[in-house]
Formats: sequence, structure tokens, C-alpha cells
Amino acid sequence: MYKEFDVHTQIYFGEHALDRLSHMGAKRALIISDPFVVSSGLVRHVTDRFDRAGVTYSVYLDVIPDPPIDKVVAGVKAAMDFDPDCLVAIGGGSALDLSKAVRKMAQAMDADFNPRLIAIPTTSGTGSEVTSFAVITDPAAGTKYPLVADDMTPDEAILDEVLVKSVPPAITADTGMDVLTHAIESYVSTNNNEFSAALSEKAIEICGQFLLRSYADNRDSHARRKMHIASCLAGLAFNATSLGLNHGMAHQLGAQFHIPHGRANAMLLPHIIEFNSEIDKHSRSKVAYPPCVRKYCVIARSLGVQNLNEVTTIRALTGYMEFMNKEMGIPLSVSEMGIVSEGEYMARVDAMAEAALADACTATNPRYPTKEEIAAIYRKLW
Ligand SMILES: NC(=O)c1ccc[n+]([C@@H]2O[C@H](COP(=O)([O-])OP(=O)(O)OC[C@H]3O[C@@H](n4cnc5c(N)ncnc54)[C@H](O)[C@@H]3O)[C@@H](O)[C@H]2O)c1
Ligand SMILES: [Fe+2]
Repeated sequence: MYKEFDVHTQIYFGEHALDRLSHMGAKRALIISDPFVVSSGLVRHVTDRFDRAGVTYSVYLDVIPDPPIDKVVAGVKAAMDFDPDCLVAIGGGSALDLSKAVRKMAQAMDADFNPRLIAIPTTSGTGSEVTSFAVITDPAAGTKYPLVADDMTPDEAILDEVLVKSVPPAITADTGMDVLTHAIESYVSTNNNEFSAALSEKAIEICGQFLLRSYADNRDSHARRKMHIASCLAGLAFNATSLGLNHGMAHQLGAQFHIPHGRANAMLLPHIIEFNSEIDKHSRSKVAYPPCVRKYCVIARSLGVQNLNEVTTIRALTGYMEFMNKEMGIPLSVSEMGIVSEGEYMARVDAMAEAALADACTATNPRYPTKEEIAAIYRKLW
């Protein structure tokens, strides 16, 4: 069966990329954002340009992290009432995902509702500006659903690092580790191909060089710009390949305990590499390894921790992930976070394992897990 590599989104980047807003010919725009982006004044990067270009606009700012279904419904109403020719999503992955779901749902209700979707990320993390994924939370069921539909992919993405200067260190850490997880999961995905691999390799290399720099100093605009590009590269990669068990499990930690998405991924990453490679701290060398081990070794090389033996390389790679987490104040275990008692956490493991097994992302993991294996990883994470 042939494959296709489709980049639907027109990407604008580089200095003053936001000036694209003045030239795109919008007449009536609904800006979708979160309260921080509005109260911090970041949204003025959009509204000032629209004021000068004579674009009529309204701002919907009711986005919250891990957007739940009811916020999507409210967004659909706001969008249909305003009837824009373009939706401008500006914010983190939550604002971008909500906007994608809003357009999709509104279109399902009214086939004539067809605004262009312009995605402007203010975090360097999800890559949502170029993907057909939107992750929506169902609080009643205690789970997150990754919706996937080609027509949710934004039409344009604008990458301007001026918007990420204000990201505090903890969010730089979480979102940066999300980028690294996207690139790694895409690289070892059962759907990977040479095009996605090239994008992942570049994203991984940039994370290795610039994530700690951008965490340590948010005035380091070179590092910020690089991480903003890496986030988009990783988004393009996983849009083609989907993700893996890391995301399937992280979604449940987000839905159950509100652990920020990137942080949940970062905490799981060393465990998932061990599970997929079948190599842990006690492993001995073997004659043959699962195919993903070779790929993890390439990743280790990009990050500067490869050596001549598979077992020592994989151990160095999981050690590197733990090092990154420690350097950036990301806890290594759920117990360290002090957000839930051990009894309550363990009581939810079975349901989380079931939901992670059913999560759409898990299907492309290089090693197909059983529910009990997933539960064992959740227990190790405690
Ligand atoms: N669609 C996809 O392909 C995809 C991929 C991965 C994750 N996700 C989803 O995206 C969401 C996470 O997105 P996120 O990590 O970008 O976080 P987010 O959008 O939830 O935002 C996290 C916090 O950062 C703040 N923030 C945003 N921009 C800021 C800035 N410039 N300065 C200071 N603070 C800022 C927000 O106000 C919010 O409080 C989750 O729901 C996750 O499941 C989607
Ligand atoms: Fe993610």
C-alpha cells in the first residue's frame, strides 16, 4: 500500500512572522485564546495588526488547560454567532486544540460555516499548529480523547518567538519535553517513514542543544526560536506517523490528576524507552534486539549519549531523560508531586491502563502492550 506525506498547513516563521496577519485578507476574525494570553497583553500582537488592517474581530477567551467538552460547545456557539471568515487560535496547545474542535463541530452543524483556521502557538510544545489532532477532555469519564481528522488541520501556522518569551521555566520544561516525546515517539512509531524521520531527527537534535538553554534563560531568544521551530518539526513528524504508548498513558494522567501534559510525558519517557527496548538497568547484552533499539541508538547519538553497546546506550538514553527531568525540576515519580495519596492513585491504575490501551496513540507503539503491562508501568511511576 502506498503512503502519503501531506503538509496541509502553510507555515510562516522568522522575524516579524506575525506580520502575516496584516496581509492575509481577513475581514472578520474570531480570536480564540486563554485568559492569560489576553490579560498578559500577548493577544495585542494580533489585535493591533487587525486594528491597523481594518479587520473586524471578537475575542473568545474561555479556554482552559486540557479543554473539556463543554468549552468546545461554548466555543461553537460563539463562533456560529459571530460568523467569522477566519478563526485565529492564539495560545498553548489547549487554545489551538479547542479551536480545531470548534471549527470541526460547527462545520458538522452548518456545512456553510467554513472559516480559515490560523494557529499561533505561544508555547513551544504541542505542534498542534500543524497537526490533525485535537485532545479534548471528558471530565465525567475521567479521560482525554485525541480526536483525529484531516480537516481539523490548521490552514496557516505562524511561528513567532516573540510570543514565547514570557513562558516561565516550569512550562518551558514541560512543553519542551513534550516536543522531545513527540519526536521520539514518531521516530519509533510503527508508521514511521523517511520524511517523518528526517523531521524527528532535526527536532531531537534541537532539543538536545537548546532545551536546557531555553529553560535556563528565557531571554535567550536564539534558543527560544530554535525550540519553537523544533516543536513544529516534531508536530509535522507525528502528524504523519501518530505517537505511541507514552502519549496514550500521559493522556490518562492528565485527565485523572491534571498533571500538565508535557510533564506527564517527561515522567513516563524513561519507563517507555525501557519497555519498548526490553532493556532496563539489569539487562545483559543479547544477540538480537527489537527493531526499535536501533532507532533509540540513533536518537542517543543525536543527543550525544551513544556508545558501542546497545544495552549501555539504552541505559544512557533513559539516564539522559532522567537527567533532563532533574535539571528542569520535573519530578521522576507521581508520589514526589504530593497531589494524590498512594491508595487513591493505585485504585485508579486499572481504569487508566484500560483507557491507555484504548487510546488512539497507543496503536502505533513499536511494542504492543497488554493492559497488565501498562498497569505495571503506572505502578512503577508511583
Ligand atoms: N493537538 C496536538 O497535536 C497535541 C499534541 C500534544 C498535546 N496536546 C494537548 O495540548 C494541551 C497542552 O498544551 P500546552 O502544553 O501548550 O499548554 P496549555 O495550552 O494547556 O497552556 C499551559 C499554560 O501555559 C500558559 N501559557 C501559554 N502561553 C504562554 C506564554 N507565552 N507565556 C506564559 N504562559 C503561557 C497558559 O495560559 C496555561 O496556563 C493538552 O491538552 C494536550 O493534551 C495536543
Ligand atoms: Fe504531546
